[in-house]
Amino acid sequence: IIIDYGGPNVAKPLHVGHLRSAIIGESIKRIGRFVGHKVIGDVHLGDWGLQMGLIITELKHRKPELVYFDDSYTGEYPEEAPFTISELEEIYPCASGKSKEDEAYRNEALEATHLLQQGKPGYMALWNHIMNVSVTDLKRNYDKLNVSFDLWKKESDAQPYIPGMVEEMKEKGFAYVDQGALVVDVKEENDTKEIPPPFQECMLLKSDGASLYTTTDLATIVERMKLFNPDEILYVVDKRQELHFIQVFRCARKTGLVKDDTKLSFLGFGTMNGKDGKPFKTREGGVMRLETLIKDINEEMFTKIVENRSVKDKDAKETAEIVGLSAIKYGDLSNQATKDYIFDIDRFTSFEGNTGPYILYTIVRIKSILNRFAEEGGNLEAGTILDPVNDSQKNLMLQLTGFGATVENAFEEKAPHKICAYIYEVSNAFNSFYHETKILSEENEAQKASFIQLLKLTKKVLETCIDLLGFSATG
Ligand code: ARG
Repeated sequence: IIIDYGGPNVAKPLHVGHLRSAIIGESIKRIGRFVGHKVIGDVHLGDWGLQMGLIITELKHRKPELVYFDDSYTGEYPEEAPFTISELEEIYPCASGKSKEDEAYRNEALEATHLLQQGKPGYMALWNHIMNVSVTDLKRNYDKLNVSFDLWKKESDAQPYIPGMVEEMKEKGFAYVDQGALVVDVKEENDTKEIPPPFQECMLLKSDGASLYTTTDLATIVERMKLFNPDEILYVVDKRQELHFIQVFRCARKTGLVKDDTKLSFLGFGTMNGKDGKPFKTREGGVMRLETLIKDINEEMFTKIVENRSVKDKDAKETAEIVGLSAIKYGDLSNQATKDYIFDIDRFTSFEGNTGPYILYTIVRIKSILNRFAEEGGNLEAGTILDPVNDSQKNLMLQLTGFGATVENAFEEKAPHKICAYIYEVSNAFNSFYHETKILSEENEAQKASFIQLLKLTKKVLETCIDLLGFSATG
């Protein structure tokens, strides 16, 4: 199974729009592996669009003397990039703003994009620099989120597959010219409502011969089939792109890019909104950068942690990062992926209620009981779980038996929220059991050992589940 998730666009800052794809995709990848599938995660970088032409154009305006712009230059290009990541992040919005106001500038950027796609050496060299600088930064960001990819493939990797694919679609009679553009008809009966007419024709090449997002996605399918021959390709992308994927899937199937039994699935997620119900923004109303969001959460966690007890600043900072990640991820994953949800820092960072910090708190509570037991000379390996002594223990034991079915079902339905709901129940069951049962002061040794084994099992179930969600209780 290939999971296509993350999908950041190179040289544009990583913003919250890409957060959900990373969090949900990572979790599904982990759950898939846990239930026994061979899963490959591919970040599928957006590296081939207008943003590259915009950056090149802006650079040319600022530093026309750079050797990349000298058409008569034939030597080696410098190894060092002519910009840093912060410059790059400033250049893109600047160029994008200009292109909206200045038609000539926009045309220049389109031309630069075109030249890049045709392999102009100076632009290719710049593109390489942009890639290296951005990818280093992206990896650092994903690292902080505990998200990692097996493949760092890019949209441009699919380009070599386009000509052959297009030729074949023409030869087989699937592709034809309509008003100058090359298209494949993907209309199906009765779908006027579901798929509006513009989506009933899948465009492969524009009248000027340029390829599109659709073309790249189709060629990427060709590449994936060739390199990995997967049983399924799953895309974790914003649900506003659903029509695009319906089109791509229909076209891929109709033209035989995939085998009849290769599954193509789309998991479209909803928008992350602010408390005002509108897409999440910074206080100033700008696009929220992922780094800023993580920093805000960690600061909030830090305040909550030092509020109640005296801890060293350094320790509290580390703890805040661990708990902060659980707040962000659980806050996202506990909602059904397809739905929009409200990102509520106060609620997500609370140690009470259906939150990541509450789950971590429960795990830490179990650990501290086990530690005390060991310190008092207890043997953590001794004993077995006996029949329950009260209803709350019975409830906890019943909850724990649900583990296997929950994880399998979460994968079947691509629904990490089911694991969240499950561990919330387990945590509640554990905490009731803890309040109603004397554990360490139990005098019957066999009974006490039984409680300890049950605690260990509860801890193992909770820890396994949060790992499947992509966070942990330790740094
Ligand atoms: N880069 C795209 C975006 O930001 C997402 C890519 C999703 N994956 C794909 N194969 N189209 O919208």
